[in-house]
Amino acid sequence: MAQVEVLIDVDTGVDDALALSFAALHPDINLRAVTCVAGNASLDNVYRNTRAVLAVAGAGHVPVARGASRPLIAAPRDAAHVHGHNGLAGLDLAVPEGGSDIHAVELMRREILASPTPPTLIALAPLTNVALLLRMYPEVAARLDRIVFMGGSASIGNATPVAEFNSWADPEAVAIVVDSGIPTVMYGLDVFYSAAVSEDDVAALERSSRPVAQLCAKLFRHMAVKDSDQKRIPAGTIAALGDAGTVCAVVDPAGLTTHRFPVSVCTDGSRSRGQTIVDRRSHRGESELNGASLGQPVDVALAVDGARLAQLFRRTILGSSGG
Ligand code: BDR
Ligand code: CA
Repeated sequence: MAQVEVLIDVDTGVDDALALSFAALHPDINLRAVTCVAGNASLDNVYRNTRAVLAVAGAGHVPVARGASRPLIAAPRDAAHVHGHNGLAGLDLAVPEGGSDIHAVELMRREILASPTPPTLIALAPLTNVALLLRMYPEVAARLDRIVFMGGSASIGNATPVAEFNSWADPEAVAIVVDSGIPTVMYGLDVFYSAAVSEDDVAALERSSRPVAQLCAKLFRHMAVKDSDQKRIPAGTIAALGDAGTVCAVVDPAGLTTHRFPVSVCTDGSRSRGQTIVDRRSHRGESELNGASLGQPVDVALAVDGARLAQLFRRTILGSSGG
């Protein structure tokens, strides 16, 4: 596969950290920039965590920028109960000196314009920064090859019975993204927990002398505690790749099955706020006959070869020698 020019938007976040580690190490990805948004943790913690993780992964040279410190309209809410008090499993990683004052939207604009081929924007967090890019620089965003976002669901939710966390955190931003007309892939909860690592995978990471492998092992151990009492990961696995599965699927699209469906998102104040409504019907119904819009076409991930993506992740983090 030819190298893909990639921008990643994160709310690091334990599984965002796994995703960044993979993106930093995989040779088919040219990681041009990482942008930060409030979500799992405060913007300050996300920025700190992101720069610390990239440094461990040997990608301290990748530009990182702060973006939105809260959703477009909704009140900010974190996920400390899942990701730990600092968003990174309570780990105290060294944060490199320096940093940059460029805003996330300006960094995305700069790197989209500088990219030799249309880049892929992978969004692993509430879509606030991406929505701001679309509103501020729509002509630049139109140069994207596609947006691949982790969020939403065609089935059940996690933050609420029907809404996935990233979509629930900033539904208005999801609406802006899916309505943008830019080719979009939704890697939602229908596949999110199905790509997961085994005890053997994590033990191999722990045995590695690579700091990035040991970091990933610690992050998986943290998630394993969260996932252990849940039936949502496959039998024989202990922790989901989560956001990292999204990046693995960009490198290895054969590991993912998508179908194109109209998608919209519930933005009203009801209990279904943040729910992505995926129209999987094969027929037109009464609502459309009465003029309702079904939403824009989105490539919705419905199945994943979880073992394949987990092996891709393991091999990449361990290096070509395997383990
Ligand atoms: C999403 O929410 C966050 O907690 C994770 O980082 C992931 O992006 C899953 O619903
Ligand atoms: Ca995330």
